[in-house]
Amino acid sequence: MITLTTERLILRGWRDDDLDALAAINADPEVMRYIMDGQVRDRQQTEAGLRRFQAGWAENGYGIFAIERDGELLGWAGLAVPTFLPEIMPAMEIGWRLGRHAWGQGYATEAAAAALRFGFEQPGLDRIVSIRHIDNDRSARVMTKLGMTHERDTVVPEVNQPVAVHAITREQYGRLS
Ligand SMILES: CC(C)(COP(=O)(O)OP(=O)(O)OC[C@H]1O[C@@H](n2cnc3c(N)ncnc32)[C@H](O)[C@@H]1OP(=O)(O)O)[C@@H](O)C(=O)NCCC(=O)NCCS
Repeated sequence: MITLTTERLILRGWRDDDLDALAAINADPEVMRYIMDGQVRDRQQTEAGLRRFQAGWAENGYGIFAIERDGELLGWAGLAVPTFLPEIMPAMEIGWRLGRHAWGQGYATEAAAAALRFGFEQPGLDRIVSIRHIDNDRSARVMTKLGMTHERDTVVPEVNQPVAVHAITREQYGRLS
């Protein structure tokens, strides 16, 4: 799989020994507060998620990158199909999640900017969306900094979660860079 480098970060494929750090991130209620039903994930759920990340890359040639700085796993960013929101399908989503100690240093924006560029360059997508809980202001700010615009508010049927959908087209992205 592909490795991307930014000024401070490495976006890379998943290793089995990422499980401890990823499980700690997914066990933090503050991190999980705005994710789907807001529940933390246990180690078994995180391990299944890590396997899905690995399988996704093998199957699709795109997916979720592990974000590493100085040998430490900070979290993830990357592309996934948002099947949980059928009304916007077909679509490709960019998303992100960092451990709390890594927040507020511009890492999510730096990593997501690289993943967004990858999305428009590699799989040849014409439009990328991002979806957040309507109260997730930090994530909204990352979306704005990436050049995405708010498209609609709706509800995720499975968990009855109010979300905002943001988007950027290839053309809009091209005008930014
Ligand atoms: C959302 C998340 C990835 C952001 O990571 P981050 O590395 O802190 O993001 P950045 O530093 O790149 O940017 C955050 C921006 O939000 C701003 N911000 C921080 N707290 C905020 C708040 N309470 N309200 C509004 N904006 C806020 C920051 O000032 C910064 O904007 P700025 O650069 O203009 O100052 C991180 O908080 C996280 O992992 N949260 C838990 C998981 C999650 O919610 N994922 C997204 C699901 S849609």
